[in-house]
Amino acid sequence: MGKDVIIACDFAGAQETFAFLDRFAGEKPFVKIGMELFYAEGPEIVRQIKARGHKIFLDLKLHDIPNTVKKSMAVLSSLNVDICNLHAAGTGAMMRAALEGLTRSDGTRPLLIAVTQLTSTDQEAMEQDLWIREPIDQVVMHYAENAKNAGLDGVVCSPLEAEKVHARCGAGFLTVTPGIRFADSAAGDQKRITTPAMAKELGSDYIVVGRPITGAPDPVAAYRRCVAEFVD
Ligand code: C5P
Repeated sequence: MGKDVIIACDFAGAQETFAFLDRFAGEKPFVKIGMELFYAEGPEIVRQIKARGHKIFLDLKLHDIPNTVKKSMAVLSSLNVDICNLHAAGTGAMMRAALEGLTRSDGTRPLLIAVTQLTSTDQEAMEQDLWIREPIDQVVMHYAENAKNAGLDGVVCSPLEAEKVHARCGAGFLTVTPGIRFADSAAGDQKRITTPAMAKELGSDYIVVGRPITGAPDPVAAYRRCVAEFVD
């Protein structure tokens, strides 16, 4: 898999999701299914989007005891998704268990990436709410290294951290980066943001784009703008 734009399909239900995907006609963008849609529609929505020919990043951000995560990952793996994720805060033991659960009997598995710190979390929230006192960039790097050491394929991080993650964990360690906004769109609740073009410059492997595409008057045009800035 190479550089790509992943559309965050943060919709309330299947009907809205398919109405959105139908606008793309022959194009099959890589899509991210998050908690809202998965909890509303269950695994069937994954099977249906897969059957339409899309690659899927199933963004459920697992974080539980290793045994529970291992068994849950085995279920997600059977859905044949392309990327799964978990919180690196769940520890190395949890990440290794997740990989075991994800690996199918023939040795294949979806890519597994870790969330370091959410892009909506800033230094102040990390210190006040999580009681983590170190600088946020060091925390992100430490979590990324933990993920790499556990055998994971990459991390979800801000594009602003992609360069450092690659320097620390290797060029092949994937950086999947939300917090993307066009130069002329609203930031919303995201705090550490870049444009698609900046994300490319900073070396992101995949950008995850939600509202700038799903909320655009012409989502297909907004998607193409992302591809033009980030991939082409
Ligand atoms: O609409 P927006 O472009 O902000 O959507 C970003 C998507 O990426 C959302 O689905 C959000 O849950 C997800 N995400 C994030 N930050 C992370 C991990 C995932 O914003 N660290």
